Amino acid sequence: MSSLDSHTKKIQKQFNRQAKEYAQTNQAKDMRAMAGLVGLTKTNASSVTLDVACGPGRLTMAFANHAKQATGLDVTENLLDIGRAEAAKLEMDNIAFTYGSALNIPFDSKTFDTVSCRAAFHHFAAPGQVLKELARVLKPEGEIIIADILGNEKTTRAAHHDALEQLCDPTHVSCLSKTRFLTLFNETGLDVTSTRFGSMDYEVEQWLLHGGPNDAQKQEIRSRFKQSVVSDQTGLDAREENGVLKFTHQTAVFVLAHAATAKH
Ligand SMILES: C[S@@+](CC[C@H](N)C(=O)[O-])C[C@H]1O[C@@H](n2cnc3c(N)ncnc32)[C@H](O)[C@@H]1O
Repeated sequence: MSSLDSHTKKIQKQFNRQAKEYAQTNQAKDMRAMAGLVGLTKTNASSVTLDVACGPGRLTMAFANHAKQATGLDVTENLLDIGRAEAAKLEMDNIAFTYGSALNIPFDSKTFDTVSCRAAFHHFAAPGQVLKELARVLKPEGEIIIADILGNEKTTRAAHHDALEQLCDPTHVSCLSKTRFLTLFNETGLDVTSTRFGSMDYEVEQWLLHGGPNDAQKQEIRSRFKQSVVSDQTGLDAREENGVLKFTHQTAVFVLAHAATAKH
C-alpha cells in the first residue's frame, strides 16, 4: 500500500505500544455492546462485512457471528495479531484481519454489505476522507454503522475535552459533535437511517490506562479533571464520588445508507 502520512504513523506507534492495554479495556472487550451494534444493522448469513479501524477485532467477531464473511482492517499490526489469535482460539473460519489504512481502503468499490467503524473517528485527521472511503467500498444497498464519542457542541468545552484526551493519548485528534457528523454525512451523500445516543461512565484512573501517559501527564490530567468538577469546563460531567474521580463520555451510533437508497 502507499506510504502512510505522519499522523497515521503516530497512530501505529501509539497503538502498537498500547495494544495489550487497549485490548484489555472494557470498551474494547464489551461483546454485548458489539452484538448490540450488529443488531442495529441488517447483517445476515449472506452479508459480507468490513470493520474499519477494527483494533483487537471484537466488533469484527460480532459481525462474523452473523455474517457470511467478516473482515477487520487496521494499521496497527499488534492489534490485528490480537484479533487473529482470538479468532483462531474460537475456531472462527469466516473472519480475516487485514493491514491497511482507512484513508485508502485496500478493497474494490461496492464490495461490502455492511461497513462499520467504532471508537475511531476521533483519531482521524481527515474524517471526511475516511467517510468517502467507507461510502466507496459500500454496495449500493449497503449500510454503514459508525459509533464514537461525541464532541461538545460548545467549542470551548470541546477544546478543553480534546486537550485532556490528547494529554492521555497523543493520537486523539478531535471528538466530532453531532452537528459536525451530520454535516459530513450530508457532504458525503449519505443519509442517516437510524441513531442511538447514550453515555459511558469512567473512573479517571481506569481510563488513564488506555493511553499510557507518563507520571507528569497523569498529574496534569487529574488536576484538569478536578478543575472541571468545579467548572465543567470539559463538559464531561467530571465528579468525585466517594473520593473517586469520574466522568462521562456522550456517545452516538449512526446507521447510514447511500442517499439514493436511504429509507425515509
Ligand atoms: C480506539 S481504537 C478502536 C478499535 C476498535 N474499533 C474498537 O472499537 O475497539 C482506534 C483504532 O483506530 C485505528 N486507526 C486509527 N487510524 C487509522 C487509519 N487511518 N487506518 C486504519 N486504522 C486506524 C487504530 O490503529 C486503532 O486500532
